[in-house]
Amino acid sequence: MKIAISADHGGYPLKDPLIAHLRKSGHEVVDLGTGDCAPCDYPDFAFAVADQVAAGQIERGIVICGSGAGACIAANKVRGVRACLCHDTYSAHQAVEHDDMNVLCLGARIIGGALAEELVTAFVNARFTGEERHLRRLNKVLARDK
Ligand code: RB5
Repeated sequence: MKIAISADHGGYPLKDPLIAHLRKSGHEVVDLGTGDCAPCDYPDFAFAVADQVAAGQIERGIVICGSGAGACIAANKVRGVRACLCHDTYSAHQAVEHDDMNVLCLGARIIGGALAEELVTAFVNARFTGEERHLRRLNKVLARDK
């Protein structure tokens, strides 16, 4: 799967280990920054991933900041993006299966590397079910874009 990932300075400590983990699992990962712990603005990096997901250039995105909240708020401003902050493995796959989540948000000041690896694995391995009730609910959400 082609995955884009980004982080601000608060999320940076998780980014490179997650890239290595995803590549080891056979995924193609596009690193959209930031490149170090120097303070920067999370919307710039969340939008970089969200824009590529919305454009269909990338199947899934992962955005990381300190809490995961700011990156999530920013990513959801991009039409076509369904971003969720998931710090438990059930949500990390269920939000894809039921809600077609396409961007996973993580907070590097909240969770450690081992859990983060399990979360991204659950996220990338999950698929939207396409079941009628899930499509019906998703379409109600999408109708708000109009
Ligand atoms: C940066 O200090 C921090 O505010 C940011 O990473 C994020 O947690 C915002 O939600």
